[in-house]
Amino acid sequence: MSSRSINSRYGTIVDNVKKQIKQKIWLPGERIPSVRAMSKAQSVSVMTVLKAYECLEAEGWIYAKAKAGYFVAAHFNRLSEPELTTPQVVNSSININRHVFDVLRACKQQDVIPFGSAFPDPALFPLQQLGRTLAQSIKTMPINSGIVDLPPGSLELRRVIAQRYLRDGIQVSLDGIVITSGAMESLGLSLAAVTQPGDTVAIESPAFYGALQAIERLKLKAVEIPVHPRNGLSINGLKAAIAEHDVKACWLMSKFQNPLGATMAAEQKQAVYRLLAEHNIPLIEDDVYAELYFHDDKPLPIKALDEKGLVLHCSSFSKCLAPGFRVGWVAAGRYARQVEELQFMSTLSVAVPNQFALAQYIQHGGYDNHLRRLRCTLEQRQQQMLGAIEQYFPEGTQVTRPRGGYFLWVVLPKKIDTSALLTELLNSHKISIAPGTLFSGGDQFKHCMRINCAYPWDEKNRAALYQLADELKRRCENK
Ligand SMILES: Cc1ncc(COP(=O)(O)O)c(C=O)c1O
Repeated sequence: MSSRSINSRYGTIVDNVKKQIKQKIWLPGERIPSVRAMSKAQSVSVMTVLKAYECLEAEGWIYAKAKAGYFVAAHFNRLSEPELTTPQVVNSSININRHVFDVLRACKQQDVIPFGSAFPDPALFPLQQLGRTLAQSIKTMPINSGIVDLPPGSLELRRVIAQRYLRDGIQVSLDGIVITSGAMESLGLSLAAVTQPGDTVAIESPAFYGALQAIERLKLKAVEIPVHPRNGLSINGLKAAIAEHDVKACWLMSKFQNPLGATMAAEQKQAVYRLLAEHNIPLIEDDVYAELYFHDDKPLPIKALDEKGLVLHCSSFSKCLAPGFRVGWVAAGRYARQVEELQFMSTLSVAVPNQFALAQYIQHGGYDNHLRRLRCTLEQRQQQMLGAIEQYFPEGTQVTRPRGGYFLWVVLPKKIDTSALLTELLNSHKISIAPGTLFSGGDQFKHCMRINCAYPWDEKNRAALYQLADELKRRCENK
């Protein structure tokens, strides 16, 4: 066979698959025929199909998932990505808790489409298996564990967590890990451990509202730093904030930032760490989405660079395994003792059976297989949602393309107020969104929203997204 005829066979497959994607025979997130099935159907060799799929992948039409196959990628040629943010809050106190409380309470009803939710689809978790492990744990737990597992928490669970850090090449001591009631507690205790009322804290713009609430509760001041929606925190912005204000702590997410989904490159993480270390500023690193990366290599946290014990690395099992168990932790470096003392004064400890059950499940229950499936499903659902947003949202919309997690950040034309939009969506269509005002002490994100894309792309959720798109178009067209 001449090389030309081989080329044309592979070229035909490339053209056909592109045509089928354009005709919407295959939708974003759907699996296309396996290499073997395609080779059989087209009577060509496996190598020819592989070459065709590699070409489609290089051009961004499809993406490969190890052991799962090839999937249609969302195609972007209409909506652009958002740009570096411009913060408004410069060294001010924060007053946001009432607003966060009202919005989250309004969105909490059972029958609301959860685009505004912070949690992934509960059906994605091995809840039955966890339930069995919990029941078993209660029977087999050492009788004195209710006493010995007081702060810093279950030794068994801390060992399991330390082993997982080691797998990523990060050394943490067992004494440096404190088990907490979800990441929310580890973050709050960490911030309290390194600040005094009135101190200034550098945060991202936009930031996870939990950071704003903690700053408000501890009577601190915030200086917001610009964030690039793809590449994360602006180093120059952080430098300027440190030069101008007496920054006592920094709180950030180096990957899959909530709400933007941004992930810093390795050099950028180094630059942040160097800058903070130079000024001896402790870093509270929120890493709750650490396990939800889509590409083959797990990005490392800034904690991996921490030679001075300056990083309080906070995470939990709430987003990747067991939301209701409320088990999180902080690898607190040199601040572990302070964090422990603060916990001793507040919640005392996390429910002991929950800690024991999670340690058992992670050791013996197939945690890594669960995570692999979860990542694959989340990426597929993200592509499905992105494909629909790309197609139906009004001209002038911008949307992020995160490489992990399950949020999309949508920037709308300035005239759209997403808090007002939320009220209308809840009242008329029972759809929630997370309005941009949740994520800053200022109001510069009031035309933005965060959308949760972790739910199945079924008829109900698809119809809800079309309704949301129609509502947006109607508002854009109103003069
Ligand atoms: C970025 C971020 N950090 C922390 C938390 C709190 O995590 P947990 O439920 O483990 O307290 C959340 C939950 O929404 C979050 O999105």
